[in-house]
Amino acid sequence: MQTISDTITVEKVKTSKIENVDFNNLEFGKVLTDHMMVCDFKNGSWETPKIVPYGPISLDPSAKIFHYGQSVFEGMKAYKDSDGKVWLFRPLENQKRINISSKRLAIPEIPEAYFMEGLKALLKVDHQWIPTAEGSSLYIRPFVFASGKGFHASPADEYKFIIACAPAGSYFAGKVKVLIEEKYSRSANGGVGFAKAGGNYAGQFYPTQLAVDKGYNQVIWTDDNTHEYIEEAGAMNIFIRINDTLITSPTSDRILDGITRKSLIEIAKDENIEVAVRPITVKEVIEASKNGSLKEMFGAGTAAVISPISTFGYQDQDYDLPSLENSYATILKKRITDIQYNKAEDKFGWRYPVQL
Ligand code: PLP
Ligand code: COI
Repeated sequence: MQTISDTITVEKVKTSKIENVDFNNLEFGKVLTDHMMVCDFKNGSWETPKIVPYGPISLDPSAKIFHYGQSVFEGMKAYKDSDGKVWLFRPLENQKRINISSKRLAIPEIPEAYFMEGLKALLKVDHQWIPTAEGSSLYIRPFVFASGKGFHASPADEYKFIIACAPAGSYFAGKVKVLIEEKYSRSANGGVGFAKAGGNYAGQFYPTQLAVDKGYNQVIWTDDNTHEYIEEAGAMNIFIRINDTLITSPTSDRILDGITRKSLIEIAKDENIEVAVRPITVKEVIEASKNGSLKEMFGAGTAAVISPISTFGYQDQDYDLPSLENSYATILKKRITDIQYNKAEDKFGWRYPVQL
């Protein structure tokens, strides 16, 4: 029987760009690999994915993505181990999540086989781009957007699903300084905060820029209603350690159900770390900082992995986090990256081999 992978066509570049790339100086997401996967939705169904040379695409100026922002994306990584084998981390979670996001944005869902086989075919042609330096990987960006035409404010009739990849080192250089937001909101109940919708990020750029101008790297979003509860960061879920308990907010309509977050919760439990998934207020964190029980804060996400927070700002005051030996961030980062890079046993069954 013919499977979807037998029907994926591959058009290779004539000359690879890889020789011109400085793998020691990679700015996140700026250097793209030689190929991309493209899959079109037309006449009510997804067409067979194609692998083509990476490059610009042509769109009608009335394409609905430009006017109504109908777009969703994913972020995942491919890792190369010391034997040159290639691995993904829980890719079916990304596949499911892109469809959860798509559904909310009235974008047609992508069949699992198109996502997985399209991705594997792309990795097969571009696997040489997966960096091997410590902490490096190939960042994978699947995205779907409305390419269908017309100014009518309604869902498009055509879509493009593309997967593009960029070799990547660290997302943040060093420790992260965050500002707890009191005015702007990232998301609201009943909104699209739980979806990886492009517009969620556009809406964060202005408040984040205000924070950057004050010397912070990221905003910590609080709930839109009271601004009293800590929710997540721009591109990461947040973990807070008070005494020896690791606290993270429950996911909701407003918070992305991060794959790193849910993996870390399981790993932490496996390490016998007490985990509390519960709402946490800014007040509680400030009190803990003042009485010395606030031990760590870190962000967690695919691009950022685990990024320890060194300082948080709130109401014109900065609060420094202590620098700990054997921090939970260090323990958990080692556990998760050892699984991702095939350096340790994977008792959870999260590692996913890619046949080259
Ligand atoms: N929260 C937001 C808003 C994000 O953009 C991301 C990044 O994907 C995360 C959390 C972390 O999610 P994941 O661990 O699935 O990458
Ligand atoms: C990821 O961690 O994959 C993300 O999507 C973050 C991105 C917004 C840079």
